[in-house]
Amino acid sequence: MTAHDEQHAAPPDPDKRVLIFDTTLRDGEQAPGITLNTREKVEIGQQLARLGVDVIEAGFPIASPGDFEGVRAVAQEVPDVIVAGLARANERDVTTAGEAVRDAARPRIHTFIATSDIHLTYKLKMTRPQVLEAATQAVRLARTMVDDVEFSCEDATRSDVAFVAEVVGAAIAEGATTINIPDTVGYTMPTEFQRFLLDLYERCPALRDVVLSVHCHDDLGLAVANSLSGVQVGARQVEGCVNGIGERAGNASIEELAMILRTRADALGGLWCGMNTTEITRTSKMVSRMTGYVVQPNKAIVGRNAFAHEAGIHQHGVLSNPLTYEIMDFTSVGLAQSEIVLGKHSGRHALRNALVEMGYELDKDELDQAFARFKTLADRKGRISAADLEAIVGDEMSVESSDAGFHLEELHFAGATGETPHARVVVTDAEGARREAEADGDGPVDALMKAIDAAAGTSGVLLEYNVSAVTSGRDALGEARVVCEIGGRRFAGQSVSTDVLEASAIAYVRAVNASRHAEHGERVAAGGV
Ligand code: KIV
Ligand code: ZN
Repeated sequence: MTAHDEQHAAPPDPDKRVLIFDTTLRDGEQAPGITLNTREKVEIGQQLARLGVDVIEAGFPIASPGDFEGVRAVAQEVPDVIVAGLARANERDVTTAGEAVRDAARPRIHTFIATSDIHLTYKLKMTRPQVLEAATQAVRLARTMVDDVEFSCEDATRSDVAFVAEVVGAAIAEGATTINIPDTVGYTMPTEFQRFLLDLYERCPALRDVVLSVHCHDDLGLAVANSLSGVQVGARQVEGCVNGIGERAGNASIEELAMILRTRADALGGLWCGMNTTEITRTSKMVSRMTGYVVQPNKAIVGRNAFAHEAGIHQHGVLSNPLTYEIMDFTSVGLAQSEIVLGKHSGRHALRNALVEMGYELDKDELDQAFARFKTLADRKGRISAADLEAIVGDEMSVESSDAGFHLEELHFAGATGETPHARVVVTDAEGARREAEADGDGPVDALMKAIDAAAGTSGVLLEYNVSAVTSGRDALGEARVVCEIGGRRFAGQSVSTDVLEASAIAYVRAVNASRHAEHGERVAAGGV
């Protein structure tokens, strides 16, 4: 659609609006190795609000004091959006979720219970009448706390549809305003899912009086396709995560859903959503940075190559007429062209103007920090592109958000080729006290991790290590990502620098900080959520 078409388009039909329920901070955060602290949750929540999602599921408040705090902070600090807290169908979960979202402008309690016989027998050890009763009581209680209650039948697609209809009917009778049908294990097929939902409408006509929602997992790579098949037969809320993160293979990716709705409204009977797609790229980068989950280069919409035309034949076509290979305009997802914007001698004013042009409004302190990073980078690199600026501003934000923890001050290496690598580090702790340590290692990364462990008093095992170029050229910024096991759990960290060993060390320090943050409140078992 061109800008002219958009200006002259008829106002969208409200009945065709698909609400976007973002669960990056809850289902997304349940992906292995992800722990977001309260500050990070609020920052992502604020960005999700700029992105224009309708609902932010901010966490599972009963899971830990940290989760409760995170949900409460998002409810208090992110305006103009529905903030949901997840609760199993029992009194303690529901009241805790209700308290956590109480201060939101528009609070929602999202309560759920499994309905499949597999889950009833092996997980819940409950009978169908007991499940029906628990669902009824949970929705009734939730409605005494908030007006907006969502009810989900976990593992719905592997459940007996007659039983799902009975439970859903009871939840609606108790005042549930949204009914969510999850494909919890990513097992269903698009046509099968449609038949299931149509059957459900038939067996439970009251479903037409509330919002039907779908929540699809990606175990067979069908999460987005299944979500779309749901909206084609009447669902008006889709649940998903930024970058498609989430339990196991993840959830439906909300940026893919939004761009499909925008690009193929013609094929979808005019369905639309309220997302501001130009915020997609920034949101994706923020989530990737804070979760430590790198986006695969060929990922639709937000992968590094999603809008790149490498092959000569493609480039030729695109240069003659972009319509030959482009179905979406790269600016519609908020991508800037990666031209050189600043040089070594550029001052604060030029940096500020470039950032404003890229959509960043920094306060004085933030600008000071960004300028210091810019100068260091410009000394190493000379010419700074928009992509470099994105990377350093994003990385600065990660530094700010890793509040409870260590900060890498110095990193020194010794050991020529053939010698044992040796690292010496200086870190400051949360109180600002300096701690120094050194260690030998099997390789440079092993040596720096051991030195950081010795300084921080931790003991981590490296499970995954990945370095990639963020920008192009010999002086490219490198991004390092580590996933490690610390204290029996997995934690991820990520950082960028022109020096990949420095980026690796900072990434590891961030993983250490995440582990310390997690120590503040051990999670209760989430029970298969
Ligand atoms: O996948 C699932 O079933 C869930 C529910 C809690 C909605 O995440
Ligand atoms: Zn889920």
